[in-house]
Amino acid sequence: MPIDAARERLIQRLPKVELHLHIEGTLEPEMMFSLAAKHGIKLPYASVEAVRAAYAFHDLQSFLDLYYAGCDVLRDRRDFYALAMAYFTRAHADNVVHAELFFDPQTHTVRGVPIDTVILGLRDAMDDAHRRYGITSDLILCFLRHLPEADAFATLDAALPYLQELAGVGLDSGERGNPPAKFQRVYAKARSLGLRAVAHAGEEGPAAYITDALDLLHVERIDHGVRCDEDPALVARLVREQIPLTVCPLSNLKLCVVKDLREHNFATLLRRGVVVTINSDDPAYFGGYVGENYRATAEALDLTAAELVTCAENAARASFLPAQAKTALLSKIRAVGAHA
Ligand code: HPA
Ligand code: ZN
Repeated sequence: MPIDAARERLIQRLPKVELHLHIEGTLEPEMMFSLAAKHGIKLPYASVEAVRAAYAFHDLQSFLDLYYAGCDVLRDRRDFYALAMAYFTRAHADNVVHAELFFDPQTHTVRGVPIDTVILGLRDAMDDAHRRYGITSDLILCFLRHLPEADAFATLDAALPYLQELAGVGLDSGERGNPPAKFQRVYAKARSLGLRAVAHAGEEGPAAYITDALDLLHVERIDHGVRCDEDPALVARLVREQIPLTVCPLSNLKLCVVKDLREHNFATLLRRGVVVTINSDDPAYFGGYVGENYRATAEALDLTAAELVTCAENAARASFLPAQAKTALLSKIRAVGAHA
């Protein structure tokens, strides 16, 4: 059933925190074309419509192939600034007040784009977004899990001059066959440097990868994590230890993790007491930014107004915001919820 006007208004007005957003996944086809023109790059697509038509994925890898190819147009500091600024403008329209952005340095360094260019361009936009929109944000450096451990170590070393600019590390790319154990040592080093830890697990990979991300990588949040329900003891642990999952419903639909949003386990997990949050993952590829993810999930799973408020509260609590900012944000969310 389409959601009613009251929940529609609530979704718009709720102050949102986005915790699972790959900044490279916000590259809209229009920007892909304008940056390609700027750098004299010939794209393998005739038009913006042709790019969108190519976004028919059957699994994670079929998406990743296009996603990494699209990144080729990101070449200089201004490109990364433009990419992130476009995201913040859309996020602001969705009433996002805090965002923790993933970025994939290895996707860029392999093409000869220095990590400095990437981080400085993103930081420029984060500073501007704070000035213009009041949005706060953090950066989470992701290791590409299909590449060797040594490459992850080299990436962490290359990022050392920018340690102050980073909130934490994450793990993304093809999950199957690339278990958390492969990155246990590099995560230990990152944590010893004071970085927070999160990891993608249980999107396409088994529930055991979620357990291993917790026990071997010592992550504070699990990105996706939807396959946790294959292990009831794990679900009980997630509830007991209040470990947040950054769920991305439209991503799960587009990558065929679920066949239909109405079959998504999001509401079951929420009602079971798991700290689930709603996020957009790679919105330019999956057909919706965070507001649209709230809307589609509420509609497909009949989330109540109170449950939508809980989702927003979960995201605020699960964020890396300082305690005071968290408390202030939680009371704003509750105030909006009280008028729903
Ligand atoms: N999963 C794994 N890697 C990714 C994703 C994802 O959803 N998005 C961008 N890189
Ligand atoms: Zn992701």
